[in-house]
Amino acid sequence: MLGQSGDMEVHIKLPESGPGTPVRLSLAPPSAASRDPRHLRAAPRGALRPKKSHPGEQRRAPGTYRFLVPFKMKAAMSLVECWGIISVTEVLLASAVFCLTFMVIRSFQQKIPKGLKRLPGPRSYPLIGNVLELGRSNPHLTLTQMSQKYGDVMQIRIGTRPVLVLSGLDTIKQALVKQGEDFMGRPDLYSFHYIGDGQSLTFSTDSGEVWRARRKLAQNALKAFSVSPSPNSSSTCLLEEHVSKEAEYLIKKFLQLMEEEKRFDPYQYVVVSVANVICAMCFGKRYRHNDQELLSIVNLSNEFGEVAASGNPADFIPVLQYLPSRAMKIFKDLNKRFNSFVQKMVKEHYSSFDKDNIRDITDSLIGHCQQKKADESANIQLSDQKIVNIVNDLFGAGFDTVTTALSWILMYLVTYPEIQKKIHDELDKTIGRERRPRLSDRPMLPYTEAFILEMFRHSSFLPFTIPHCTTKDTVLNGYFIPKDLCVFVNQWQVNHDEKLWKDPSIFNPERFLNCEGTEVNRTESEKVMTFGLGKRKCIGESIGRWEVFLFLTTLLQQLEFSICDGEEVDITPQYGLTMKHKRCEHFQIKQRFQVKSPE
Ligand code: HEM
Repeated sequence: MLGQSGDMEVHIKLPESGPGTPVRLSLAPPSAASRDPRHLRAAPRGALRPKKSHPGEQRRAPGTYRFLVPFKMKAAMSLVECWGIISVTEVLLASAVFCLTFMVIRSFQQKIPKGLKRLPGPRSYPLIGNVLELGRSNPHLTLTQMSQKYGDVMQIRIGTRPVLVLSGLDTIKQALVKQGEDFMGRPDLYSFHYIGDGQSLTFSTDSGEVWRARRKLAQNALKAFSVSPSPNSSSTCLLEEHVSKEAEYLIKKFLQLMEEEKRFDPYQYVVVSVANVICAMCFGKRYRHNDQELLSIVNLSNEFGEVAASGNPADFIPVLQYLPSRAMKIFKDLNKRFNSFVQKMVKEHYSSFDKDNIRDITDSLIGHCQQKKADESANIQLSDQKIVNIVNDLFGAGFDTVTTALSWILMYLVTYPEIQKKIHDELDKTIGRERRPRLSDRPMLPYTEAFILEMFRHSSFLPFTIPHCTTKDTVLNGYFIPKDLCVFVNQWQVNHDEKLWKDPSIFNPERFLNCEGTEVNRTESEKVMTFGLGKRKCIGESIGRWEVFLFLTTLLQQLEFSICDGEEVDITPQYGLTMKHKRCEHFQIKQRFQVKSPE
C-alpha cells in the first residue's frame, strides 16, 4: 500500500468543553476560515494531547493542534471527515474496528507455501492498483522497464485484480511450453464477452476438453483450405493461389491510384486484399476494394485492438464498465456487425450445403456438425454453435494480423530504401522477371526472410500475447503462483532484450544471416516472439508467415515503393492488441518493368 510507512499530519480543532464534546477533524492544512479570529479557542484539555511543537508551528491557527496519526488510521479519518462532527470516543472506536478489519483481511491474504517466494512487484494504490504507472499509451514499455527492477516474474495490480507479468525468453518458455498446462487458460475479462458472442475459441475462458476439440477442428479446417493442392490452377496450393491473385489485384490497384492521385495510403487496399484471402478460405468469396459491407468490418479493427489489448482498465475496474466510453461503444457495435456478417455467410452455406462438395472452411465445419450427429460414440459432443463459430475466430484472426504485418513492411521499405534495394536484387537474381514468386522460393531468399523476421522483431506489433490465466496453483522460478491469476506475456520485452540482441532498437535484417549472408541463422530466428508459444500458440502461424512472404515478394518483384519528396513516415507504434503506425497517404510506386500477363 502506498504511504504505508509515513504518518500523516492531522490538524484538530479542539473546543473549550471537555472530553466527549464533538470535535471537528480536518485532514487538510488549516483553512483561511480556521485562522479567522472568531474561531479562536482556549487551550484544550482532554484525551488527545498535542505533540511538541515544531518550527513553523506558529503558522497553524490558534487552538488547532497537530497530531501524527499512524497510517492505518488515515482511511478511518477520511471517513470521519465525511460524516462531520463526531466524538473522540467514536474516532478511537472506528480506528480500532478499522485496524481489526485490516488484520482480518491480511490473515485471508494468499498464504505462500513454505520454501516458495511471494511474487515481487511495484507497490500499488488501493482500488486502482498500478493503473497510473501503467498508463494507456505504452504499457509494454512500462512493464519492460519494471521487469528490469523486479525480474522476469512479477506481479502488478490493475484495479484490485492482480496480474502476473512474464518477461525473458527462458522464463516465458518455461511457463508456456514446459509448464504449458498450468498457464494455458484465458482470464474472464469483460470485453472478451462481446467477442464471438462470448463463444470465441480464442478469447473465451474455455481451456478444457471442449477448447481442445475446437482447436483441433480449426487446425484441420485451416490446413485443408490452405496447404491442400489447388484443383484448378498451376499454384502449388490453395493459399498460394489466393495470395498470388490478391497481390496481383493489389498491384493493379496501386498503379491505378498512382496514375489518378499521384500518391496514396496503401492501408485500406492491403486490408481488403488480405481479408479476401481469408474470405476465400472461409467462405469461398471475394469482395471488391470498395465493398462497403466488408470495409465497415475491416476498417474498424483499430478500435477492436484498443479495447481487446492487454491492460484495458474496463476489464479490471468494474465501475468503468458503466461509464460512457466511445471505444467500448465502437467495440460492441463492431462485434455485433462482425457476428451478423459471419452468421449471414453461415446461413447461406447451410442452404446450399452439399456433403459431396465441400467448398470451404464453413462447409467443412457444417459437415462436421452433421457427421457428429451420426457419431454417437464421440468422446466430446460439441454444440453446432460451438463448431460453426470457429469460423468467426479464423476470419477475425486472419485479416488484422497479416494486414498489420504488411503495413509495417511497407513502412520499413520506404524508411530504409537501401534495404528495399537489397530485396529487389535478391528477387531479380533468384526469381528473375519471367515468372511470379512462389511459396517454394522462400528458402532461396534468405535476405527477404531476414527482413521479415526483423520486421516482426523490431515492430513487435503484437506486444503481448492475448492474456493467459493459470489453471491451477503452480510455481515458476521459485515463486508461488495461485490458480486463476491473469497473465500478461511481454513479447515486446523479449524482442528488445539487450541480453538477447545487439543494439535491439536498430533495424538490421543482417542480424539474422550467417557471415556469408547466404542462410538464415535458425537459433537467432527462433528468439523472435510474435506468435506466442506452447498450448495457446497461434494456429495460423505458418499461414501468416507464408502470406506475408508471398504478398511481399509479389509486390516487390514488380514495384518500387517510396514516399513523396519532403514527406516523412512516422513509425511510432500506437498501443493495442495489434499495434498500428500512423496512416500515411504519401506513398508512391514505380513499376520496375513491363509485366507479361501471369502464367
Ligand atoms: C502475422 C500473422 C499472425 C500473427 C503475428 C499472429 C499472432 C498470434 C498471437 C500472438 C496469438 C496469441 C497467442 C497466445 O495467446 O499465447 C494468436 C492466436 C491465434 N491466432 Fe494468430 N497470428 C497471425 C495470423 C493468424 C492467422 C492467419 C490465423 C488464422 C487464419 C490465426 C489464428 C489464431 C487463432 C485461432 C488464435 C487463438 C489460439 C488459441 O487461443 O488457442 N492467426 N495469434
